[in-house]
Order: sequence, then structure tokens, then C-alpha cells
Amino acid sequence: MNFEHEPADDDVATIRIEGLQQDLTILHLTDSHMAEGDERDPEASEAVGRMQKVFQERTPGGVPAWDLFRRALAMAAARGVDAAALTGDIIHFPSYAALDIVQAGIDELDIPTVYTCGNHDWHFPHLEWSQATRAEHYPRFHGLTDGNPSFGSREVGGVRLITVDNSTYQVSAEQVEFLRAELDSGQPCLLFIHIPIWVKTLASAVLEKWQAPIMMASPSDWTDETREKWRVVEATPSTIACHDLLTSEAASCLAGIFCGHVHFAHSDVVRPGCQQYVTAPGFEGGYRWIELTGLD
Ligand SMILES: [Fe+2]
Repeated sequence: MNFEHEPADDDVATIRIEGLQQDLTILHLTDSHMAEGDERDPEASEAVGRMQKVFQERTPGGVPAWDLFRRALAMAAARGVDAAALTGDIIHFPSYAALDIVQAGIDELDIPTVYTCGNHDWHFPHLEWSQATRAEHYPRFHGLTDGNPSFGSREVGGVRLITVDNSTYQVSAEQVEFLRAELDSGQPCLLFIHIPIWVKTLASAVLEKWQAPIMMASPSDWTDETREKWRVVEATPSTIACHDLLTSEAASCLAGIFCGHVHFAHSDVVRPGCQQYVTAPGFEGGYRWIELTGLD
């Protein structure tokens, strides 16, 4: 399948897709980091004020993160977008108050929306950051993910919008099998994940900002100290298999990967026809319009 990518702006990705019957516009939003809470999550109350302050100091105009989230969705509604994709750390921890803001925004937008978790979505700061903590809080995301926060897909205008939760830097064999089947569907595909996959041309920018290669399946540049700080263990065989799949001919139906996590905008070639777009964080006013159009 043939795809052409126009040179990317920070807030637009224009992709020409062979055989696409209708033009589509998709909002990509990531890393809003809304830290909200109320009496339903009393153990998070200390973190609410502290984290709101941290992020509000970095938002344009000092407005709250939830305000920027609402503004992005309002812009999408005004533009008449066909779908929205939210790729993690939209909320800073899984409080019911924060989830209510996300759900209300999506309900109001009333268009097909996909949601995948980031490393913060499911983690209250007072808990251990672990697979077990993620599993414990997954049920809170069932409403946003059609009952499966681990992976999913939906078709919009002949394009498959696929989500895979890679928020622990790892993916499971089950997720890889799901992804493989989706990419074998014969339809053009877009993949939405939180953590960028390792791409050589992205690595230096990530290292410069974070002093650690915080990408999925990064083959180098980790140290014992940075692994411990970021709680990132070596890539598992299924994670490596996922990276191999995404960078191989078997992913010839994949036009783009959209992600966040590293808090700056970037675009990199993954393989011929496929680019990875990292989008700037929502708490800084970032978003991206994904414009899909036919390729003659
Ligand atoms: Fe993140």
C-alpha cells in the first residue's frame, strides 16, 4: 500500500493514502497531564494541588491543564474533525474526577474516539509503579476503551485506528498478535501508542531532553542508573517482536504511528511509507491535526 507524507509541521501531519475514498481529519492529543481529584479518591488529595501547580507553571498563560484540554476539543468540534485519538498521560493519575472530565469532553465531541494509557494515567503517586498497579486501575478505563485498555481498534472512513498500551515500555505477546492481525487486514492503518518506538533519528533529541532513551525498545544508551530512575527493564522478547513488526515489510499497511510521552514534537521515518509523529504535550497547548487524503 502506498503512502506519501508531506513535510511535517509540529501541529499537522498530512498523509496521502492510496485508495482512500474520503478525506479525513483526526485530532491527536496527548500528555494533557490533568491532575484532578475529589472525595472519591481521598488518598490522592495531596498530589492534586502539588501536581496542578507543577503543570500550571508550564501552561501557556498559566491556565489549568483541564482548560487547555477543553479548548483542544472545542477547536476539534469547530473544525468538524472525523475522529479523535488520545494517546496517554491525558490525566496525571486515575482519579474519578479526572476521568469524568475526559469522558464528558469525549461525549460532548460525539465523534469516534480512541484512547490509550500513558505511564501516568493509571498510576497514583503514592502507589508502586508496576504492572500490578496498572492492572488494578485498568477497570477505571473500561468506559474510555470499549472495555479493553490493553489494545483495540476502530474503523473510520476505511482507515483502522489501532491502540496498543505500551505505557510500561513493554508490550505483551497478546498485544503483538492483535497488532499483527490488524496490520494484515488490508486496510490502511494508524497506530496510537503513548511511548514512541525507538527510531535512530529521534534518539538524540530524546537523550538531550531527558538524559535517558525513554522510547520503546531502545537498543542502547540506558545505564543502570537511568533504568532504575525510569523503572525501565530491558525490552522483553515480545517488545522486540513488536518493534521488529512495525519496522518490517509486514507493516506495509501502516501509514503512521502517533505518540507523545517525551513532551516535544518530532517526526521520523520508521520505514518507507511510514512515519512516527510525536506530538507536543497538551499541557503546553500542543495537539496535531492528522489530515488524510487520497493518493492518485
Ligand atoms: Fe508519559
